[in-house]
Amino acid sequence: MRRKIIAGNWKMYKSPAETREFGEELKQLYKTPPKDYEICIFPTYLCIDSLVESWKGLEGFHVGAQNCHWANMGAYTGEISAAMLVDVQADHVLIGHSERRQYQKETHQELQAKVMAALGFDLQVVYCCGEMLDDRQADKHFDVVTRQLDEVLGKLHPRALPNLIVAYEPVWAIGTGVTATPAQAQEMHAFIRRHLKKILGSKAERTPILYGGSVKQNNALSLFSMGDIDGALIGGASLQAGDFWAIAQAMSQALS
Ligand code: 13P
Repeated sequence: MRRKIIAGNWKMYKSPAETREFGEELKQLYKTPPKDYEICIFPTYLCIDSLVESWKGLEGFHVGAQNCHWANMGAYTGEISAAMLVDVQADHVLIGHSERRQYQKETHQELQAKVMAALGFDLQVVYCCGEMLDDRQADKHFDVVTRQLDEVLGKLHPRALPNLIVAYEPVWAIGTGVTATPAQAQEMHAFIRRHLKKILGSKAERTPILYGGSVKQNNALSLFSMGDIDGALIGGASLQAGDFWAIAQAMSQALS
């Protein structure tokens, strides 16, 4: 069976104090750590340490960063390297989120270099892809996602696969309250899985593919019940421990 992952991308929300509060609340909600899926929260760089501290020693609870630089160190004002993330005990990193592609104009060359840097430090890379509304309306969504996979993951060595997670996040579903239907998400996840196997070999069958875009408590179970959806990357609904936990419970239910 593939790994299942419930992840939260906090974007530019929460202070260190609020992060600690969330960390403690989530611990309270879990009497024992989940056995059949992993949890990962991606807070701002400033809050990684607070969450790592709060969850120290808890199996299955991970902390990640929302970005990293492609260089290990250097004269790059305002940047953070993969090496530094490892130093503060983050073990995951998001690469290629659509908000960074849009606002920071990240190019596929940069994304490719970031993926390589993160893998070089043995981080788990959550590579984000997904089409814009116009692409879907023009029936180009498969082409767009194919290009995003080829340009950034096309040259990866298959031995990197155990460190790779893909998140499919259709841009039209992010923060809009409009979720992809389970059938739409399943169709794209199955497509991504076939394509990953084409470019990275048969072991890509085991690569977790998460869905992101307005995942909430009321739609999580129907998404997680689909065969190729291995979890979620949750934005808004990951900010409250209770909401996040409720979505994670839907994963337990889907697996039972
Ligand atoms: P929402 O869950 O708020 O739509 O955000 C999704 C997202 O961008 C996660 O990376």
